[in-house]
Amino acid sequence: MSSIYDDPDATEEQLFAELPEPLNISPSTILNEYENINVLAPLVRCSKLPFRHLVSLYETHITYTPMILAEEFSRAQIARISDFSTSSNERGVFWLNPSSGSSSTTTSRKGKEVIRVSHPNDLQKYNLSHDRNDDDEQQQQQQQHITYHQSHYGNGTRRPFQPTKPNKQSELVKGKLIAQFASPNSKSLVDAAELVSPYVDGIDLNCGCPQRWAYNEGIGCALLRKPELIKDMVKSVKDRMGHNWSVSIKIRIDPDLKNTDTLIRNALQAGISYLTIHGRTRHQPSTDPVNLDGIKFAVETVGGQVPCIGNGDIWTYDDVKEMREKSGVKGVMAARGLLANPALFSNYSITPSHAISQFISISNSYGLIFPLFHRHLSYMLENNFTTRNEKVWFNSLSSSTAAIDWLENRGLDWKSIRGSQWDGRRGRGILSNT
Ligand SMILES: Cc1cc2nc3c(=O)[nH]c(=O)nc-3n(C[C@H](O)[C@H](O)[C@H](O)COP(=O)(O)O)c2cc1C
Repeated sequence: MSSIYDDPDATEEQLFAELPEPLNISPSTILNEYENINVLAPLVRCSKLPFRHLVSLYETHITYTPMILAEEFSRAQIARISDFSTSSNERGVFWLNPSSGSSSTTTSRKGKEVIRVSHPNDLQKYNLSHDRNDDDEQQQQQQQHITYHQSHYGNGTRRPFQPTKPNKQSELVKGKLIAQFASPNSKSLVDAAELVSPYVDGIDLNCGCPQRWAYNEGIGCALLRKPELIKDMVKSVKDRMGHNWSVSIKIRIDPDLKNTDTLIRNALQAGISYLTIHGRTRHQPSTDPVNLDGIKFAVETVGGQVPCIGNGDIWTYDDVKEMREKSGVKGVMAARGLLANPALFSNYSITPSHAISQFISISNSYGLIFPLFHRHLSYMLENNFTTRNEKVWFNSLSSSTAAIDWLENRGLDWKSIRGSQWDGRRGRGILSNT
């Protein structure tokens, strides 16, 4: 019997009409139950909405906001406006393969699924409610000051890169968004978590920022040798938000692995949902190679109680494979590698031109200030410049129009891909050969 997929005249709408609802499951379930999970690292200034949306077109399943100061976020509207924005369709939708150890099928998995709401309106849709307390009204007001783009980019319904399963076992799963916070105490973290909770799928506590100012404020790396405080912070958020709500921590390894061991055991006792390990110590610059043995040590300490994500020096798809094989992590997180090539997880070796086109289109739609727009393009083009002069010239441009003109003069036809259903793996619209 011929199917709609064999019909050459089928429209995009017809092709995608048969798709099941994507599974909306917790980040730790995705990491535990599916193979090859890829993650965009938290990046100050850089992992904002337009860049997160861009990488979600290219097999990046979990994305992080930049580190947000919890104290400011929970205290001041102005901080919420400047530090966080999201949209109804920034999360990708992916065909994922269940991992070999996972015995569950979609139907049995549904029994233990936690549906997380991604917008306050969804509370009604899923017939859920918050427990009311005296501060509720004030809190709702504060929530209104979070920038939420309703279907601002694309048609509002994200679809996977192709309408049919890549193989028999594949399941359709919705990507996840994590807000990362830095906090020196439990109260600010809990308040910030509650405020951001309707818009994200979990929070992450930064225990790895090595900068001196951060250390002096008692945040980032300053927490690495305060396992009891981390335990209290994680537990407090879980107590307020419910045990199933995702709370993770991102750590660096300690030169004395006994400290890493203690830290992890405390975090597990507190109930972390998963653990991210950056394989460098507090004093190691990012030019030092990542220590995969250190990551492996942390993974072994966790002993399978929760899934782990490995981070450090992911520049190519081979690095992704090596990280998984040598350290035993479930997920792989890239930072500078994705800045240089947002299509890295789709196995492109340098930024393809369609990723640059997508970036321009997305940035125009959401609105991205010129310095950031320019900086991202500069990172992405780094390996595409043919001469040093070309690079110097591009970096001296002073407006978005000038940067786009420069790219158009080199043959970039970025407008041609706008709006079409995007196949990030093949770098073209589903029904066109562009
Ligand atoms: C520009 C930039 C900003 C960063 N911002 C954060 C941040 O907000 N939170 C965090 O935990 N780590 C941050 N990091 C560290 C990265 O998340 C990552 O741990 C580190 O770069 C190692 O990964 P890589 O070798 O893939 O770059 C940042 C790194 C860079 C280069």
